[in-house]
Amino acid sequence: MLKISVLVSGGGTNLQALIDAQNNGILKSGKIVQVISSRPDAYALERAKKFGISTDVADFKTLGENFENKILELLEKFKPEVIVLAGFMHILSKNFIEKSGAKIINIHPSLIPAFCGKGFYGLKVHEAVLKSGVKITGATVHLVNEIPDGGEILAQKAVKIFPDDTPEVLQRRVMEQAEWIILPQAVEKVCSKISKIIPYSIKYPGRGIITGMTPSGNIALAYFIMGRSSSSKARIFERSGNELIIKLTKQDKNFDPSLILYSPLRIFAASDDRQEDKIILTNGDQTDTIYDFLKDGKTFEDALRTRDYEPDEPHYTPRISAIISKSGFKQSILKRAGKYFFEYKFEKGSGRLIHTYDHDVTKDKILPSFSGEPREVKISDDIEEFSSSLWQELGEDYRVALYVRFYHSDFVKYQDRLFNTQTL
Ligand code: GAR
Repeated sequence: MLKISVLVSGGGTNLQALIDAQNNGILKSGKIVQVISSRPDAYALERAKKFGISTDVADFKTLGENFENKILELLEKFKPEVIVLAGFMHILSKNFIEKSGAKIINIHPSLIPAFCGKGFYGLKVHEAVLKSGVKITGATVHLVNEIPDGGEILAQKAVKIFPDDTPEVLQRRVMEQAEWIILPQAVEKVCSKISKIIPYSIKYPGRGIITGMTPSGNIALAYFIMGRSSSSKARIFERSGNELIIKLTKQDKNFDPSLILYSPLRIFAASDDRQEDKIILTNGDQTDTIYDFLKDGKTFEDALRTRDYEPDEPHYTPRISAIISKSGFKQSILKRAGKYFFEYKFEKGSGRLIHTYDHDVTKDKILPSFSGEPREVKISDDIEEFSSSLWQELGEDYRVALYVRFYHSDFVKYQDRLFNTQTL
């Protein structure tokens, strides 16, 4: 899920339209995490607070030259991927646009290129429209670049003008019939286009498991490994029947092979009825422990309770595992802080991602263990697009191997994709 910060200056009716869209599912690929107002008394702030959204003020009047820097500083709290200018009455500089690192979307109350640019904002736009005698106006949603109201147009909607319109009456009609409709739609479109599989920036997630379902209802899984040491990097995934194994590309005596050579994916066939197959996915030799316990009629949890995190002091890398059956999946993490189990029903188009390490490396260079619940990730129907996006997101520096499998509806046949950085 992408993070959205909304910049406002006044009543915040467009902010309200975005909040409503979020609540009724029109806006689903991004979440409003922050509202920043250029005025301390803007009613938009009240609207945000009512919905539990974090609010900040960058007071244009008192900040003067420091206005943009203050906004940049406030944005740092959330590092949003998308910024929406919703009734924001200021022009932003090229420097701000570049430094923000976000896609910036603006709503303007006219049909651009008419009645836009410097000096055309709020009611002034509608006054100018009425004065000119045009019979149609409207609203435009566009990307923000260094030219005021000059960026790529994302959406437009026309609105009729009537003979006895006042600027206020026309403003209201343009909002109701155009702005509140096209702004949320365009924001969703931008978010879904830039939406990533791993929904946050993380340099070194380590090893990771995704289990879930495609939008058309097929079971999906992914397993990736990343490495920093040379022995860790010298590995490749190889298919072995319908299972997966890891091989070394070169010999190196300075490592514990049990930590880096294992079967990440095994199939446990409970009976001749393939529908009952269980897929085991893990980042270590606990795959075999789980398999053996299932064979003895015991459970995933029984097996993992006999295991622990890895002995690789000082990191104590967590052992992550997942098991998939026709009805749902479980994930688990064994770390120093305890043993955790999570159970999920399938939800179309969505999965859960669990990985070994958390966001930032501590000062003493220890890799912090993954914390919290497995993160929700989006799964598409297109294995090519899903697997290559994931491979790309893992980044060139540390990625080692990735395996992705999308089952067909029978949970027997499947399509898969395998990526290795090295070759044998
Ligand atoms: C809206 O019509 C918006 O399009 C306009 O200000 C009005 C107030 O919006 N924005 C601009 O003129 C930006 N150049 P609000 O009710 O969302 O605060």
